Parts: sequence; structure tokens; C-alpha cells
Amino acid sequence: MAYTELSSRSFHASPISLAPMVDKTDRDWRWIMRHITRCCLLYTEMITAPAVLRGNRSRLLGFSEREKPLALQLGWDEGALLAEACRIAEDYGYDEINLNCGCPSERVQRHEFGASLMANPSKTAKLLESMAKAVNLPVTVKHRIGIRSEKNHLSLESYEQLSRFVQIIADSGCRKFIVHARIADLDGLSPRENREIPPLQPGLVYRLKEDFPHLFIEINGGYRTPEAVDEALGRVDAVMIGRAALDNPWMLAEADRRWFKAVEPVPSRSDILAAALPYIIRRAEEGVPQGKLLAPIMNLFAGRPGARKWRRTLTELIASPSEDFTSGLENAIIHLDSWCHERH
Ligand SMILES: Cc1cc2nc3c(=O)[nH]c(=O)nc-3n(C[C@H](O)[C@H](O)[C@H](O)COP(=O)(O)O)c2cc1C
Repeated sequence: MAYTELSSRSFHASPISLAPMVDKTDRDWRWIMRHITRCCLLYTEMITAPAVLRGNRSRLLGFSEREKPLALQLGWDEGALLAEACRIAEDYGYDEINLNCGCPSERVQRHEFGASLMANPSKTAKLLESMAKAVNLPVTVKHRIGIRSEKNHLSLESYEQLSRFVQIIADSGCRKFIVHARIADLDGLSPRENREIPPLQPGLVYRLKEDFPHLFIEINGGYRTPEAVDEALGRVDAVMIGRAALDNPWMLAEADRRWFKAVEPVPSRSDILAAALPYIIRRAEEGVPQGKLLAPIMNLFAGRPGARKWRRTLTELIASPSEDFTSGLENAIIHLDSWCHERH
């Protein structure tokens, strides 16, 4: 397939997306987030290509139409397996496929995928090409601004090295780059520390957009307020939001009107809970752990009166499985008014 054919595939030019987060952005979290924002592009958790091929496919890949537009994030370092995983994902109806080149965990490094791929841009470009050739979907990449590893005498921390990586990947036909504006320290820091300790350097991502104006450059890392997002959108094409969506999902309630020019009214928190309740009960009956199901609504009232009481009540409900889950949840919702004074 010709390079131009791969590069002309239209990806989702969504100005805001919600980040892939392992153990968090599963289908139940996404289903509830979709009631808060109809427009933001959503991502799955990272799933490895072998898991897609050999794991419980419907559990790993299944989703409801309502979650779309939805991107699947894959991790692995073998083109043939990634290509096969892409074909399966296309059959499932995903809108976009993303290759993880930013995860610094040790497990991931043992297989040399995730952030380790940044050390080998030509190999990464070939992986992306194999993926894109296997399907008609857009294939995108999420990476860091650089990596370092003392153990491997590796230091790819300059802007020149970053732009070389982007150039080589772009030469393979990839058009959309999501850039977490931090270096990943591959042997000095845990994954969590790697999301907190290396300083954010948004200037390097802005510079990428200046040097590669034809590429879609999406910035990620530390966006917690609509105002900060607005500022970044003046410099790059899009912003990916991660932890802020977990800690304060209501931050996204205005997203559709603010960034997608939607005209529909913002739903109230009560609307979200009214929609979520039957869904949560049904999924609990299907055997999904209660903690997983309540996680997306745990922080729905973040920053408002009654938020702590709401959290505590849900936490207690999860901790005492002998309690009747349905009536416990209904009771919590009934009491909300008195805890929160006003729940909208
Ligand atoms: C619990 C957790 C799990 C994550 N899992 C993934 C993942 O599967 N794939 C990925 O590319 N990034 C993952 N990340 C990183 C986020 O996608 C994002 O790049 C990072 O949190 C920085 O954005 P933020 O400051 O908006 O949270 C994860 C982050 C968290 C907090």
C-alpha cells in the first residue's frame, strides 16, 4: 500500500480526548463518561497484542456503540501480532488504533514495547506501517518527549532526538501524535513517579507543532482546568486529559459546548445518576465487581459539599458485599440532596 494512501486516512481530529489508563478506562467507566461528554474521543486501556489474540476477546474488546468514537490502544513490539490484533479490532468496530510508545513499566520494558520503542524509531515506524496496512482504520501513536535509562546508557532527551523520532514515524504515514510532555525514566522511577516527577515541558510539544504543521499534534500531561486546555489549544491541535477525568469527571461536563460547539444543554449530575443506576445494577448482576462499577461515579461531586459523604457511603457499600447493593445505592442517591444541598 502506498505511503500516501496510509497518510491520507482520516483520524479523529477531536480537540479533546480522554487518556488510556490501565485499570481505569474500562467499558463501564467509558459508558458513564459518555453521559458526561458525548463528543470527546475515548480510549481503552492499553491491551497487548498477544492478549487480543489469545485472551478473552469479548471481555477485553467488547464495548457498547454508545462509547464511540472510541480508540483502542495496543502495546507490543512485533508487527505481525500487532497487525492481527488490528484486524480483530477493526471487526469489533473501533474507530482508531493507537500504539503505546510511552509506558515505562518494567513488565512492558521486558518485552521492549511502550516507551522503550522510542529508542528505535525505525522499528516503531515499521510496526505502525504493519498495523496500518492490515486495516482501513487510522493508526496513531502516543509517546513521551524522550526517554532515559542509565542501565542501558540511553539518553534521548533533546528536542532534536524527539523531532527525529516524529519525522521517522511520520515518514511511515502516521499523521497523529499524542505527546505526553515528560521524559520517561526507564530505570530510575516507577510508572506512577514517571507521571509526576519528570517536569512537564509543553514548550517542546508546541515546537513540534511549529516544525510539523501538517501533523496533528495532541499534547498530554497535567491538564486540570478548562482554562489550561484553552491555552494549549492555541498552540497545538488537541489536548488529552487523563487523571483530571478520574479525579473530577464533572470537569468534562462543559466539554461538548466549549470545544465541540455542541448546543445541547449540559446534563445534570442527577441525570447522570439516573442513567447510571440501572446500568450499574445490570452490570453488577452480570458479575462485574461493584468497586469497578462505582469508581466512575465516586468523584462525581468532587469539590462540592457532600462529596466526602458520597464517597464514604459508596466505599462502605463496596466494603460490605453482604449489604443489598441495589437498595444501598438507591439510598445513597436519595440521601444526596441532604448531603449536597443541591446536586446539580
Ligand atoms: C492509572 C493510570 C493508568 C495509565 N495507563 C496508561 C495506558 O494504558 N496507556 C497509556 O498510554 N498511558 C497510560 N497512562 C498515562 C496517561 O494516559 C497519561 O499519559 C498520563 O496520566 C498523563 O496525563 P494526565 O496528567 O492528564 O493524567 C496511565 C495513567 C494512569 C494514572
